Amino acid sequence: MEVTRTRKGLRAFTAAQRAMRKAVGFVPTMGFFHEGHLSLMRRAREERGSVVVSVFVNPLQFGPSEDFGSYPRDLDRDLELAREAGVDLVFAPDGDEMYPGGVPQVTVDPGPLGDRLEGASRPGHFRGVCTVVAKLFQTVGPSRAYFGEKDWQQLAVIRRMVADLGFPVDVVSCPIVRERDGLALSSRNVYLSPGERTAALSLSRGLRAAVERLAAGERSVAALTAAIAETVRGEPLADLDYAAVVDGETFDEIEEVARPARALVAARVGKPRLIDNMPLDPSVGENGPDMGPGAP
Ligand code: PAJ
Repeated sequence: MEVTRTRKGLRAFTAAQRAMRKAVGFVPTMGFFHEGHLSLMRRAREERGSVVVSVFVNPLQFGPSEDFGSYPRDLDRDLELAREAGVDLVFAPDGDEMYPGGVPQVTVDPGPLGDRLEGASRPGHFRGVCTVVAKLFQTVGPSRAYFGEKDWQQLAVIRRMVADLGFPVDVVSCPIVRERDGLALSSRNVYLSPGERTAALSLSRGLRAAVERLAAGERSVAALTAAIAETVRGEPLADLDYAAVVDGETFDEIEEVARPARALVAARVGKPRLIDNMPLDPSVGENGPDMGPGAP
């Protein structure tokens, strides 16, 4: 596995792959790998001749009061895990390498979807995400890029950016990897104290409650959202930010679940702000949809 800290090194590598007619699969990350990140890398390994992973904690997507400074970082460990996952190149630039002119003045507008839910709570977040992902796509030139469903709205915004700006990239979405008890893996979970970790389970439990209510015949978005919110509010250590149910494809606000939808939740639990989501499929019966590996 090769490692480069420079865009020049990255370009040289991907040019060589193209010369060998190897299609490049790309996994953008902010590092501090867990099984969620690794599942994306393994999928890319299965599907593409060459796998590039970026590790860059992107300052543009953090608000002034957010955790950019304390975001967990451990590049040596990440390199070891990437090697084991069969990655060919890790691109790990510093801030100056990524943004040599300082904070970029030309950025990618994420459109109206960028102002809702995560975007409403984190102004400028999706502009930062789109800008860095566009720049990475531009430098890596992948034929496929892999994103986790854990960040469902990010996935929707990126798909829209790729469609609207015409990036020649297939966006591949990968299921959420969870702990055995249902907690969605996140780099930020390391911040949780044992008590907070228990409280953090209320996010997946709330979503699961909505899935169960749906399977029992409930179609009202107000009732399903309330089921999620009540579960999270039942944990004193969890501070609910939003619970929402949106159309699974368009992200439109809906009142009834008549076709596949997505339930989303965000809450602060101690220091970290956590997010999670699950599919709501009205055609699925009592057992609910597959929650992915590790589901309880
Ligand atoms: P990061 O939070 O490091 O996540 C990198 C990728 O891993 C994202 O596509 C995310 O959805 C996926 N991922 C995280 N946790 C997961 C889980 N439990 N199961 C499956 N996939 C999971 O998302 C970002 O970085 C950044 O916004 C980035 C796209 C790199 C732009 O800076």
